[in-house]
Amino acid sequence: MGEMRPQGTPVKWAVVANGENRRVHLFAVAAEEAGCGTPRVVEWSDVLRDGGHDFADDEVVRLDSPGENADVDRLLRGADGPTRVEGSARWYAGFLDGVRSLRGGRRLDDPADLAVLFDKRLCHARLDAAGVPVPQSPTSGAARPVEGWSDVRRLMEEAGLRRAFVKLAHGSSASGVLAVETSATGRVRATTSVERTADGSLHNSLRVRRYSDEAEIAAIVDTLAPDGLHIERWLPKASLGDRSADLRVVVVAGRATHVVVRTSRSPLTNLHLGGTRGDLSAVRTLAGDRWAHALGISEQAAACFPDTLCVGVDLLPAIGWRRYAVGEVNAFGDLLPRLTGLPGSGAEGLDTYATQVAAVRSLSGVRLAPPFDAPPRTAHAHS
Ligand SMILES: Nc1ncnc2c1ncn2[C@@H]1O[C@H](COP(=O)(O)OP(=O)(O)O)[C@@H](O)[C@H]1O
Ligand SMILES: [Mg+2]
Repeated sequence: MGEMRPQGTPVKWAVVANGENRRVHLFAVAAEEAGCGTPRVVEWSDVLRDGGHDFADDEVVRLDSPGENADVDRLLRGADGPTRVEGSARWYAGFLDGVRSLRGGRRLDDPADLAVLFDKRLCHARLDAAGVPVPQSPTSGAARPVEGWSDVRRLMEEAGLRRAFVKLAHGSSASGVLAVETSATGRVRATTSVERTADGSLHNSLRVRRYSDEAEIAAIVDTLAPDGLHIERWLPKASLGDRSADLRVVVVAGRATHVVVRTSRSPLTNLHLGGTRGDLSAVRTLAGDRWAHALGISEQAAACFPDTLCVGVDLLPAIGWRRYAVGEVNAFGDLLPRLTGLPGSGAEGLDTYATQVAAVRSLSGVRLAPPFDAPPRTAHAHS
């Protein structure tokens, strides 16, 4: 069992992150304002180069994203250039090795949870098994390897999917995501931010584009496939005005505390691709009595990762705002600057970082998992 921290007990924070970025800054402000002092920052690049890091037994360790850093990206993906799409399978293996190399401390992110959160096939299967609504998928649990475009077409056909999302198993920030449509006459169209250059390499671009030449779509998917692919039904999303919308719901210590609406003219709502924050009160009106249900699904999804303090749930509203499915659960989905908590959530007036600091200090009790290198709980139970 983990331990309960009485209210007011000072917490010594350590953060594993990439230098002085915005996430680190915002979290430091939250810790300082709560009287916890400035968190100790441990660089991902040092962890990876040194083969681990030792934390003091009383340090509470928060992992932050290893992304958006060329040096760390090179170490993890072996990528030649920050925009390259290829290399996510190697990134996944390297990231998990890095997490498992941490020693001591009290962690807020469970390595076994992270292994599932960063594999969309495993994440889908875990949510599905728990009864969380998810889009239908022929690749759930990585049951079906996808070797290339011909497999994608076959799996879509077998599953009866005319329209599907094809995603990198270990992708994030819409990298390597294609929204694929097939017509009765066999024509294909793919909407994606992937840009294929003349030499056949793939790059993340900031512009969403459409491909309608099947040979080119096949070339893209065949290049993505060695890193692992996940396929799921394309859910027609609800709209807000003339834009399609989804929700990012941050869940801290089991409670949905922060929500942003993301809207876009394209099926990809990611903010860096031109998605914009939508009007939450308009969404609450449209959802009506189903709003509590939407938050409940998000909390149910987060409960699949009980040893992880904070997750960001991508909630896909079906047309009409009555039904919802979980698109994915993000380990580092809490970068929502200046956003304060929902009324009644206990996080009123707090941003996502202050909410996590408060949760760890609160009596209501966040279980702090055992140190990184302790044997898993189930092993304890049998010994
Ligand atoms: N099955 C789906 N149906 C409709 N839209 C989807 C589906 N899956 C993902 N999306 C949309 O695609 C975008 C990126 O998908 P996501 O799975 O979150 O990938 P990433 O981890 O790269 O952000 C989001 O805007 C989301 O709304
Ligand atoms: Mg996402």
